[in-house]
Amino acid sequence: MSVGDAFLSAFLQVAFDRLASRKLLDFAQYWKVDVERKNLIRTLRKINAVLNDAEEKQSKDEAVKEWLDELTDVAYDAEVVIDEFATEALRWKLLEGSVTTQASTEESQVWSFNIPASFSHFMFNVDIKYKIKAITERLDDIAKERHDLGLRDGVQGRSYGFQERLPTTSLVNESDVYGRDEEKEKIIDMLLRDDQEPCRHNKISVIPIVGMGGVGKTTLAQLLYSDDRVNQHFNMKAWACVSDEFDVMTITMAILESATKRSYDFKNLEPLQDSLKNELNGKKFLLVLDDVWNKKYTNWDVLKKPFSAGAKGSKIIVTTRNKDVAFIMAGGTLPFNDLKHLSDDDCWLLFEKHSFENTGRQPKFESIGREIVKKCKGLPLAAKTLAGLLLCKVEEDEWKNILNSELWDLPDEESGIMPALKLSYHHLRPHLKRCFAYC
Ligand SMILES: Nc1ncnc2c1ncn2[C@@H]1O[C@H](COP(=O)(O)OP(=O)(O)O)[C@@H](O)[C@H]1O
Ligand SMILES: [Mg+2]
Repeated sequence: MSVGDAFLSAFLQVAFDRLASRKLLDFAQYWKVDVERKNLIRTLRKINAVLNDAEEKQSKDEAVKEWLDELTDVAYDAEVVIDEFATEALRWKLLEGSVTTQASTEESQVWSFNIPASFSHFMFNVDIKYKIKAITERLDDIAKERHDLGLRDGVQGRSYGFQERLPTTSLVNESDVYGRDEEKEKIIDMLLRDDQEPCRHNKISVIPIVGMGGVGKTTLAQLLYSDDRVNQHFNMKAWACVSDEFDVMTITMAILESATKRSYDFKNLEPLQDSLKNELNGKKFLLVLDDVWNKKYTNWDVLKKPFSAGAKGSKIIVTTRNKDVAFIMAGGTLPFNDLKHLSDDDCWLLFEKHSFENTGRQPKFESIGREIVKKCKGLPLAAKTLAGLLLCKVEEDEWKNILNSELWDLPDEESGIMPALKLSYHHLRPHLKRCFAYC
């Protein structure tokens, strides 16, 4: 995925949220820019519908690539316009919102406002109307070309943007991890037992760790992987971050390189699998396959072939968000380790560590911080991300704004992401939002 693609999906996600927000809607209706607002949303929807298809086709089709590049350029400009629109709506709400809720929307009652503020809104209205129309026309021209390029609506793709994260490794700083003692001990117990019911007729047991994104599956797997008892028990260990695509060649290579700490240059699966098989031969190994999405049994069936060379008692830890994946890989033989959210207390410790890192804990922020942590509902990724956001906010009001944001109330289905994460994303300046698309 290119940076442009990441930017585009991140841009669209945020654009839809902002254009559909209550504040912007009220403002647009009052100042009669709602037609323009709706047209812009409609155009963005047309583009959004074909984005996955375009992203997939761009590597083979130069015209599609150019189309995406052009779209990215216009999206940067559109982002600035939407930002202006949203900022002005907020200013309007703060300055005049109380008056407008009492007043009817009769034109004449505009004069009951304080004149300079109303006048500036009026001028803004003329300006923003023009800007939205202009940007919509540019986007519309691009959207029209989608038919000529043969781009299809609704093609499924991975959701990119700021949700995408760096590949994981096995390294962890244990002192930065809170809670999880019980879960860790339970799985260590499974790992150290050689007589565990093997998966089907295999000697190898698969231990799935299942849970929503950001709940701490990878972190738990890292804790297990680096535990001394585990190190002593197994003859060989390997860590492979699967994430994006379940490409058997890439994953096998990652396992082999991790197990042997050497790099290889195989071009074909046959010698590669054979090498891995030789390395594993007769050894009791521990393998972590982190963040697996693949639901195709046949892919898994091919990947696991070399594993059968390992000794009895070898284990594979699989982390996944999806129970079906766990079921397929474990052959339905083991109970899932359904990873629960952290307790509020552990989440607080995590938040405290990351939000007060530079300044030291300040009592006036503690009670607001604890309320914010409660809203993270035990999701460590949310607590950590918000802590990072608040690290540079030194005014109490800034903390309160985060605590009282409407974004907390958005249902997850609507946003597709945890509100806490959305919130932290929402508060970034546009150029930083783009940075989010890099990581
Ligand atoms: N128990 C924990 N204590 C401290 N930080 C945690 C804990 N669990 C997860 N985190 C942090 O939260 C973030 C998301 O955790 P991760 O393990 O990557 O989640 P998942 O693999 O379920 O998506 C990471 O930055 C990780 O360091
Ligand atoms: Mg993970």
